Amino acid sequence: MAQKNSLAERPPMGWNSWNHFHNKIDDASVRAQAEAMVSSGMRDAGYTYINIDDTWEGERDAKGNIQANSKFPDMKALADFVHSKGLKLGIYSSPGAKTCAKFEGSLGHELQDAQTYAAWGIDYLKYDLCGLREEMKTAPTPEAAHKIMIDAYTKMRDALRSTGRPMVYSLCQYGEDAVWEWGADVGGNLWRTTGDISDKYARMAEIGFGQAGLGRFAGPGHWNDPDMLEVGNGGMTTDEYRTHMSLWAILAAPLLAGNDLSTMTPETVALLTNHDVIAIDQDAAGKQGDRVSAEGPVEVWARVLTDGSKAVGIFNRHSSAMTAHVDLQKLGFTHAVKAKDLWQAKDMGSINTSYTVTLPGHGVLFLRLSQ
Ligand code: GLA
Repeated sequence: MAQKNSLAERPPMGWNSWNHFHNKIDDASVRAQAEAMVSSGMRDAGYTYINIDDTWEGERDAKGNIQANSKFPDMKALADFVHSKGLKLGIYSSPGAKTCAKFEGSLGHELQDAQTYAAWGIDYLKYDLCGLREEMKTAPTPEAAHKIMIDAYTKMRDALRSTGRPMVYSLCQYGEDAVWEWGADVGGNLWRTTGDISDKYARMAEIGFGQAGLGRFAGPGHWNDPDMLEVGNGGMTTDEYRTHMSLWAILAAPLLAGNDLSTMTPETVALLTNHDVIAIDQDAAGKQGDRVSAEGPVEVWARVLTDGSKAVGIFNRHSSAMTAHVDLQKLGFTHAVKAKDLWQAKDMGSINTSYTVTLPGHGVLFLRLSQ
């Protein structure tokens, strides 16, 4: 029986340290991110979680309690600070003895760690498989290895729940073993469906466009997670970052910024806080969209929204501009369609169901359409 914790009714929005900072994250930079999330307008746009990823962990004390390392002198005080900004604090661990970056994991200390997180005031846990693979390797059969993993995720779910403190439970499992089929049953509010993203169009596109068919496994409280955002990290063009944001919104993906919020350009802020795009991602029905058609490098993806309108992305995966003819009848529209161009924030009035568009290389036309 799936046990829900009634958190993450919409895909979680926030920030995570990994994509930009990797192991160079400390108390001061986390505070700076929280401050920037407020001053940039991101908090008001819906971003809430400030998530510390791997490399915060220190040694256990004599009683086995996990302690933060010297980069995080007082985790409780940090949580208080983040909360004082109207934000929430997330943390990271692994069901294995070690994390991916070879820091202390939670194996054998699950309940103790959940209690420590609760005492610190943590609101979100990303639980990253990595180190548990050592244990899984010792299993006699693939089925037995699978059971070790399921048991480990279930154990932390129960540990978190027993603390009485609501904590979003984020499974990081890279999409192996069809995690979307069992992620909700082990209490996951979200589960990574892929390996790690990088700040390059090719990798982002491989992940984003690779999500076709997964929509039926997601919904309010339990989301597919195609990994954190790279917007603002500098490795993609503006058109490519628009593709990234548009796809993630259609996919009802968690929007976890992965850049340095304290040094953002106005253009990055605009990409991350586009009100119309966020509204698609956070649409209350929580119906993940899917690919409708692919014609060479041009793909049309659509998502049904609560009010009956549709978010439609017309994507050009080619590196140079392409002209595409789109038949909106394939999206269920029978006559002229009311359209808004979400990136241009432009009401387009009515458009024909047979619609021709020129798309920039690696770019997107992101529309909200209603009959
Ligand atoms: C894995 C995860 C990343 C990040 C690192 C930290 O690679 O997929 O998102 O958490 O571990 O070590």
